Amino acid sequence: MYTTTVSDLLQTDLLNQKITVCGWVRSFRSNRFIALNDGSTIKTIQCVVDYESFDEAVLNKINIGASICVTGTLVESQGQGQSVEIQVEGIEILGEANPDEVKLTILSPKRHSLETLREQAHLRIRTNTFGAVMRVRSKLAFAIHKYFNEKGFFYMNSPIITGSDAEGAGEMFTVSSFDSKNPPLTKDGAIDFSKDFFGKETHLTVSGQLEAETYAMGLGKVYTFGPTFRAENSNTSRHLAEFWMVEPEVAFYDLDDTMDLAEDFIKYILTYALEQCDDDLEFLENRLLQEDKNKPEAEHSTMKLREKLQFVVNNKFVRISYTEAIEILKKSKPNQKKRFKYLIDDWGVDLQSEHERYLVEKHFKSPVILFDYPAKIKAFYMRLNDDGKTVRAMDVLFPGIGEIVGGSQREERYDVLLDKMRAMHVDEKELYWYLDLRKFGTVVHSGFGLGFERMVQFATGMSNIRDVIPYPRTPGNAEY
Ligand code: 4AD
Ligand code: MG
Repeated sequence: MYTTTVSDLLQTDLLNQKITVCGWVRSFRSNRFIALNDGSTIKTIQCVVDYESFDEAVLNKINIGASICVTGTLVESQGQGQSVEIQVEGIEILGEANPDEVKLTILSPKRHSLETLREQAHLRIRTNTFGAVMRVRSKLAFAIHKYFNEKGFFYMNSPIITGSDAEGAGEMFTVSSFDSKNPPLTKDGAIDFSKDFFGKETHLTVSGQLEAETYAMGLGKVYTFGPTFRAENSNTSRHLAEFWMVEPEVAFYDLDDTMDLAEDFIKYILTYALEQCDDDLEFLENRLLQEDKNKPEAEHSTMKLREKLQFVVNNKFVRISYTEAIEILKKSKPNQKKRFKYLIDDWGVDLQSEHERYLVEKHFKSPVILFDYPAKIKAFYMRLNDDGKTVRAMDVLFPGIGEIVGGSQREERYDVLLDKMRAMHVDEKELYWYLDLRKFGTVVHSGFGLGFERMVQFATGMSNIRDVIPYPRTPGNAEY
């Protein structure tokens, strides 16, 4: 069966030709006008039915949510709202949808809350909002590969099951093939992982960085793009237990080089989305304007969605050190008036998302790259500065999101790295291979990790990260 897509019908010149298109019914008005969507675009194609030529039994099955295949001629539209429509000659009902049940589910045209849709994650993709978000997500993923491929990077895949804790933060899920009710125990009563599948304790990776570093030491420029897992009990609109991370790693790059790379990369993928996803972004932009109407004036967005993306693409990101940022935050109004939940009084404290968002949204009104953080609040692998107390770390902070990228220049000096690992209780035996890199032709190198869902959140304007991944995994939830 040769079929075409709605997107093709609307874009290519198939006028006056006989076509076949399959999709799901969005609405059926006056026993005459079917709005058909097939996911290829946010738009629907209008199919005009001459009801006298069709069996009533067939017409009765053209309900919202039903899947149908339509054959007919593409003609210029008589009505308003669309340029072309299908003069229907044949209809095949592929899969019925009971209209009474459909009304109870997400397929009803009435506005449903995003929370309700989250409980129907297998059906929510039929809605305009999720269709738009997931098409943008897919385009962004493609743009990421396109960018790195054009820049001479090699795509490498870090393992998902690993023996090492890449961030040294202990927030890992254990992977085991033991019978959870009866695992073998050691003499001391602890679980005996030496008898487990891999002969040792293993986890789902929190980051592909360390393995990417080994590949950068042979291939020069590499990037990973894969799922990562964090067993942190963060129930926020920006945290997932399973999320996708993009991690470039480059030999001979210092911190400035990696900041340049992050900025250029972000601008490239957002430009691509603006070029390729205009229909979807327009829809999402209007959705946000609607959402604003239900909020107090003070919470309305100052820029429309596409303006916000353009703004990021067209402006240089502000770059300031952590120390400068602390000075700004100390003197800031919310700090002086004690409106921050966590007040900033001393150098060395970790920044919370309220501080990051103050810098980006109120103070600079621009994306900000903070660098040279205190060593104590950052991971063991970051390069120690000559002051002995800061490391060559950088975070990219975005409006509405906070941290979207975390990166650093890596500690390439064997002795310094070993000292830091010992001081921070990182298992040096487990990471012998990581230390080895510093023994055999070590070089300055740097990289970063971009949280893919946070980027999709920014690009689509969705306020909750659970609404930009097909099947969100969060504390207490792993449905499907
Ligand atoms: O800052 P993070 O923890 O950095 C790393 O994992 C480094 N190994 C990256 C590197 O240098 N190669 O995480 C990087 C980014 C964050 O900036 C954030 O965007 C995202 O990953 N992220 C999360 N996204 C969703 N849910 C979570 N629980 C996240 N944790 C981090
Ligand atoms: Mg971070």
